Amino acid sequence: MAVNVAIVGATGAVGQEFLNILAERNFPIKTLKLLASARSAGKTIDYRSQTYTVEELTHDSFKDIQIALFSAGGATTKEFAPSAVKAGAVVVDNSSAYRMKDGIPLVVPEVNPEAIKKHVGIIANPNCSTIIMNVPVWPLHQVNRVRRLVVSTYQAVSGAGAWGLYELEQQMKSHAAGEPIKKELFPHQIVNNLFSHNTTIGPEGYNEEEMKMVKETRKIFGDSKIMIAATCVRVPIPRAHCESINIEFSQPMTPDRVRQILSKAPGVKLVDRIEENHFPMPLEASGQDLVLVGRIRQDISRDDGRGIEMFVAGDQIRKGAATNAVQIAEKLL
Ligand code: A2P
Repeated sequence: MAVNVAIVGATGAVGQEFLNILAERNFPIKTLKLLASARSAGKTIDYRSQTYTVEELTHDSFKDIQIALFSAGGATTKEFAPSAVKAGAVVVDNSSAYRMKDGIPLVVPEVNPEAIKKHVGIIANPNCSTIIMNVPVWPLHQVNRVRRLVVSTYQAVSGAGAWGLYELEQQMKSHAAGEPIKKELFPHQIVNNLFSHNTTIGPEGYNEEEMKMVKETRKIFGDSKIMIAATCVRVPIPRAHCESINIEFSQPMTPDRVRQILSKAPGVKLVDRIEENHFPMPLEASGQDLVLVGRIRQDISRDDGRGIEMFVAGDQIRKGAATNAVQIAEKLL
């Protein structure tokens, strides 16, 4: 059954990827509406050899729309998603606006697809770093309950949207030309540098991105006891986030068993070629949907055999945002 689809934030980094992924996956679209801010109204965007004109998002944009894919920031979602739902659309939202609200499903299709059925008009797409961690950790958790995760991220600039990518490119050019480096979006120079994720730091000393990884994982896994501590860092990489993940299991676990489980896990690809020193990298994670996993090894800092270390890389615009949302929309159909 083909449906009427609206994309909110169609001119953004994730919005553009929505279009690529809808086309790649042959999503059954009857009509397509591309929405963005007034700044973009009138711009044209091609989708499957047809040209569409971007319209300004208003409360009346959703007449006859069945699925609305939102990626225009939390404030836009809060303001306009209720209008979409009122008009009869199901909203799949990429912002954090509704993620932690009771009664709103927060879904990684490889983990908790059953939650989709409980939606009352809005389904939330998790944070990109959360998705990239959850895809490989969940199949392990199914076999040997994960008690604790300690994760450090290496997050690409495009996680901050199209402007983040532009800022890295501009700073690279300025650096190469020996010109002064301008900062507009990020609080610090990103070329030749890295810095703590620039979201607000809360009373516990963790920034918002770090707390999203904690709270969202608990909700998605349906496990309020799992202990998680995260350190989120922005790195001068255009695309694809990496994460170093230390896992404490309930029972002893071996690297071979982890490899065996992950070799059959949906959404995961093992890249663990020790002889060649070839492990997950942003360049190889970019432009595809699998979370690459490698550097799988025993945590030698403990003597009970319950610790595993691994390193992952995932395209945060695809699996960390657009692909995950389109997978949810496919399940809705
Ligand atoms: P616009 O391009 O007109 O600003 P990114 O995450 O890459 O920065 O993209 C954000 C997306 O959200 C863009 O498509 C942007 O449109 C859209 N957007 C931002 N604010 C609004 C708004 N108030 N109403 C509608 N769309 C918005």
